[in-house]
Amino acid sequence: MTGRSTTSPPRLLAGRTVLVTGASRGIGAATARLLGGHGAAVGVNYHSSRAAADEVVGAIRAAGSPATAVRADVADADEVQAMVESVRAELGPVDTLVLNAAGHKGAFAPRPLIESTVSELAALVDEQLRALLGPCRAALPDMIESERGCVVVVGSGMSTQPQPGMGLPSVAKAAADAVARVLALELGPLGVRVNVLAPGFVETDTSARFVPPAAREHLAKSVPLRRNAVPDDVAGAVLLLVSEYAGYLSGGRIRLSGGL
Ligand SMILES: NC(=O)c1ccc[n+]([C@@H]2O[C@H](COP(=O)([O-])OP(=O)(O)OC[C@H]3O[C@@H](n4cnc5c(N)ncnc54)[C@H](OP(=O)(O)O)[C@@H]3O)[C@@H](O)[C@H]2O)c1
Repeated sequence: MTGRSTTSPPRLLAGRTVLVTGASRGIGAATARLLGGHGAAVGVNYHSSRAAADEVVGAIRAAGSPATAVRADVADADEVQAMVESVRAELGPVDTLVLNAAGHKGAFAPRPLIESTVSELAALVDEQLRALLGPCRAALPDMIESERGCVVVVGSGMSTQPQPGMGLPSVAKAAADAVARVLALELGPLGVRVNVLAPGFVETDTSARFVPPAAREHLAKSVPLRRNAVPDDVAGAVLLLVSEYAGYLSGGRIRLSGGL
């Protein structure tokens, strides 16, 4: 008998340093907590919700892992560079990125794509790609130093199955898919894995603001598993993708759809 509890979960990420963007709320917060619970040191990025980010940091530290909150607009290259440097200084070289924040500064009203301007579309694609490429560029030297690198992009089911009125984010997420695929090709020889996780509808405070309860119930009934995803579902899938058990998985786009 070792005296160790047989019920404590395995710490799959001991020795790893992870930066999760948009980790103050929703999917990012659940992911940061889960990865920290599995032994990773976690950089908790936020944009405006400092108190919420501090709460996530507190929960990770209480679970026994180091964590730090770091403010940055993921669409701003200088702020992203400073964020990665600050996480490195506090927690060590970043070997894993969970690129969850889409980088969109404002909410957009759902509307047909034909009623949107090319400039609006380009602006959303621009922000989304900055949120993806900026952290990768900034953390690449760390990943090479760690002799291990892993990037998970939180994409969306909409990139291949667009919904009416949601053309702008659908196109932006499709661009992110394409960039991630190229990064997997180009960074693979450096030991860096890149995958996209593409959830369908996920119950978060933000999604609840846009989709009324009746519509959310209707959505749940259309899912073979008969429920909508919650942030912990996405966090669990991220954990699988960043763990060593997925060591040969790169260039993938994994749908998290409940069977749809
Ligand atoms: N919810 C869904 O149904 C769903 C489905 C598929 C894909 N997704 C994708 O999942 C990701 C997270 O969605 P969510 O629903 O969890 O969002 P959320 O609840 O609105 O949380 C967004 C997070 O991103 C942060 N953020 C926003 N703009 C930022 C910026 N410019 N720089 C840094 N951080 C920023 C927010 O930080 P502050 O609060 O500090 O500003 C917050 O922590 C997004 O990429 C979204 O496209 C969501």
